[in-house]
Amino acid sequence: MVPSPSWISRINVPSPTAIRQILYGVILGVSLSIASTSLAVYYQARKRERRAAQYQPRPIELRREEVLSGVTGLIGNTPLIRINSLSDALGVEILGKTEFLNPGGSVKDRVALRMIEDAEKNGLLYPYTGSRIFEGTVGSTGISIATIAVARGYNATIIMPDDVAEEKVKALLALGAEVERVRPASIVDKKQYVNLARRRAIDFGKRSSLDRANSLTDNGSPHLLKSPPSVVISTLSTHATSGADADPRADEDIISKPRGFFADQFENKSNFEAHFDGTGPEIWRQTDGRVDAFVSGAGTGGTIAGVGQYLKSMNEDVIVALADPEGSGLYNKVKYGVMFDRKEAEGTKRRHQVDTVVEGIGINRLTNNIELALPIIDDAFRITDAEAVSMSRYLVHNDGLLLGSSSACNLVACVKLVRQMGWKDGQKIVTILCDSGTRHYSKFWNDEYLHTANIPNDSHIVLDLLDTPITSSSE
Ligand SMILES: *[C@@H]1O[C@H](CO)[C@@H](O)[C@H](O)[C@H]1NC(C)=O
Ligand SMILES: *[C@@H]1O[C@H](CO)[C@@H](O)[C@H](O)[C@H]1NC(C)=O
Ligand SMILES: *[C@@H]1O[C@H](CO)[C@@H](O)[C@H](O)[C@H]1NC(C)=O
Repeated sequence: MVPSPSWISRINVPSPTAIRQILYGVILGVSLSIASTSLAVYYQARKRERRAAQYQPRPIELRREEVLSGVTGLIGNTPLIRINSLSDALGVEILGKTEFLNPGGSVKDRVALRMIEDAEKNGLLYPYTGSRIFEGTVGSTGISIATIAVARGYNATIIMPDDVAEEKVKALLALGAEVERVRPASIVDKKQYVNLARRRAIDFGKRSSLDRANSLTDNGSPHLLKSPPSVVISTLSTHATSGADADPRADEDIISKPRGFFADQFENKSNFEAHFDGTGPEIWRQTDGRVDAFVSGAGTGGTIAGVGQYLKSMNEDVIVALADPEGSGLYNKVKYGVMFDRKEAEGTKRRHQVDTVVEGIGINRLTNNIELALPIIDDAFRITDAEAVSMSRYLVHNDGLLLGSSSACNLVACVKLVRQMGWKDGQKIVTILCDSGTRHYSKFWNDEYLHTANIPNDSHIVLDLLDTPITSSSE
């Protein structure tokens, strides 16, 4: 027998058998805890393997040897570029998804295509039936819808606030869309552009079914008078669906009826899905599954929700950060849980819903697509107009990239995130280059306009931002 060490005799342990039992107990406990830890590690590894199996790595297709079917064939599958100036300055990889290369000129092409395709799949829309698509938008989604509508045999009516950049209206008119411009108003106002788009879709549906019924009555088939008006409201969130056809596939007559279709990018989940099934997987492939953060603004919330959720489903450690312009309530919602904006509280908010030169992102109400985004947003950055303008000038001078306001906002947020995380070892930050500067000549790229708005038009703010030493908790 091994003599008991002195400490055992001091605590007065009765017998060697008891010591053995204690030892066994300790060994059992330790091995159990090792077993459970390794079990957890094992399950995590399995989860990763399963995800990896779902993800089929394939190169991003080059369209060299392929003939695409029409303009919609050009939508999506956009290249990812390294923003060289910012990446070199920060020692990380700032990567931009070049959505401005879509045929309609913006990331919204993906959303418009998916909304229209889903409506066709669900039997709500049929091409070449005289049907008309209605949407309320600050412009880009309208241009995308107008483009796809022509290609697919629909007409489009776009309702937009009257303060958006003039070049967007010109593009819409050139594409043959009907444009209605309204005073910016709150969402509770019936004349707010989104509400008006829904209203117009309903009116169109009622009118066209009435016209049709009348012409058929002349031909001696009055039964159609009783058929419901051909109004299609895509979202369930509205009470106006009562006029929709119960079973749209019921018969030929109903199918060939002209319909008013309200696309509703703010509420419809097709928006989210376009990014969850398209943009997200593309980014994962293009970075070979190595992405540390995704940064995006939110106008409807579809992009950040769809891409963010997809990337997190592949690797839960991916950081999702929101870039929010001045006047938007989302920053406060993410940071403090309330949609409170200081400008609004002080009564300095003017007639704009979101008072900023940045168009297309920022919002002051919760929509279905924003709700999908909120749970996965890890951090938010408030970007001032001056910062966004500064970034756009910096990029044009250093990279030859002429970008729109939301892209510039996104890139300022990328820099802020990198500084906050203290990253400098090649971490990959992906963001969206939503549209080109050519969509923004009348405001964001108009030096005189900026001068009257008292917004500096050089890149010194970005230079300062890149120069500031890294602090652990700067905003
Ligand atoms: C509606 O679209 C059809 C086919 O796409 C076109 O022939 C027609 O001129 C359009 N109507 C209007 C009023 O724009
Ligand atoms: C979105 O629109 C489709 C038709 O395009 C409709 O069937 C669906 O119910 C809508 N979904 C939501 C969540 O609103
Ligand atoms: C800023 O705007 C002024 C006109 O207001 C213009 O002369 C100048 O070139 C602009 N500077 C930059 C860096 O774009």
